[in-house]
Amino acid sequence: MEQTETIAPPAEVDLLPEELNEEILRLKKELNAVILAHYYQESEIQDLADFIGDSLELSRKAAQTDADVIVFAGVHFMAETAKILSPDKTVLLPDLEAGCSLADSAPADLFRQYRLDHPDHLSLTYINCTAEVKALSDIIVTSSSAERILRELPEDIPVLFAPDRNLGRYLQRVTGRDMLLWQGTCLVHEQFSERKIFALRSEHPEAKLIAHPECEEVILDQADFIGSTSALLKFTQTDPSPAFIVATEPGIIHQMEKASPGKLFIPAPPDSTCACNECPYMKLNTREKLYLCMRDRKPEITMDESLRLRALAPLQRMLDLTSNSSTDTRSLLKEIRLPFTG
Ligand code: 13P
Ligand code: SF4
Repeated sequence: MEQTETIAPPAEVDLLPEELNEEILRLKKELNAVILAHYYQESEIQDLADFIGDSLELSRKAAQTDADVIVFAGVHFMAETAKILSPDKTVLLPDLEAGCSLADSAPADLFRQYRLDHPDHLSLTYINCTAEVKALSDIIVTSSSAERILRELPEDIPVLFAPDRNLGRYLQRVTGRDMLLWQGTCLVHEQFSERKIFALRSEHPEAKLIAHPECEEVILDQADFIGSTSALLKFTQTDPSPAFIVATEPGIIHQMEKASPGKLFIPAPPDSTCACNECPYMKLNTREKLYLCMRDRKPEITMDESLRLRALAPLQRMLDLTSNSSTDTRSLLKEIRLPFTG
């Protein structure tokens, strides 16, 4: 991936919080921009966004927007996905260092070798990966689309799943489908403490434990509900429980509290006393950096066109397989060339 701008913006902006908000909204109009934010962003950023969603919903929005500029308040692989889907738009990311431990766990050269070692396996790849890894994959999935897509795949096709082993294991459990699993993990979701959650449950017997499938198996085993960030939010709105222990990044609690003001949301605690249940990459984005990236129109996501086109094909398959119009899975699978030759 090419980046034209790698210089981090200065941290200080001489504007009061209200002025900062006004400036961001003014710049949004001036640039004809749309602000897309993931649920793990700080609440002040979520409140400025045009759309807040999970990875699948944000990809859809990025593909459909008629804005000239997409300001992506999320992490690098999400902004990169927006660029793959909307190459004619300017895609801005407030902090280029906003990465993802799962994406880091799958370097493209190792992933290519893994595929060469298992050439007959179709690669179902979690969207939390680089454009280079997407380009080496057959079908991209998100946490909200993975189960549905896996169930569509004929039983006789061997599948490898990368990079999140916890989501992979969860998918194996719910579908009964065996897969080869890449051993990546999310540094946030592997932190939750089974012991502390157990203690919280006895303190709040009325609370349901809800968990993202990136959590470790010991946490998922205890969960009353497992789902993507959007699915967790929806569950808290429809389930009658008065309280929830939330085993995912606590940024999402902002929307949960907004949607269900009378309910109690308790962030699941990490093993140590650190704040490591917060995603350090998501939290690199601040309102100041959001403002600066819009003012200066950088950092911008740029990408080599041949890489973009190779990464687009597996992403488009995900969008087609999860669209409401009926997609012929068999003919879509015919496009995938196996054995993998690199
Ligand atoms: P969602 O697709 O559920 O929003 O998850 C993205 C993510 O990075 C979770 O850690
Ligand atoms: Fe990546 Fe984990 Fe942060 Fe999600 S929470 S962006 S998987 S590091």
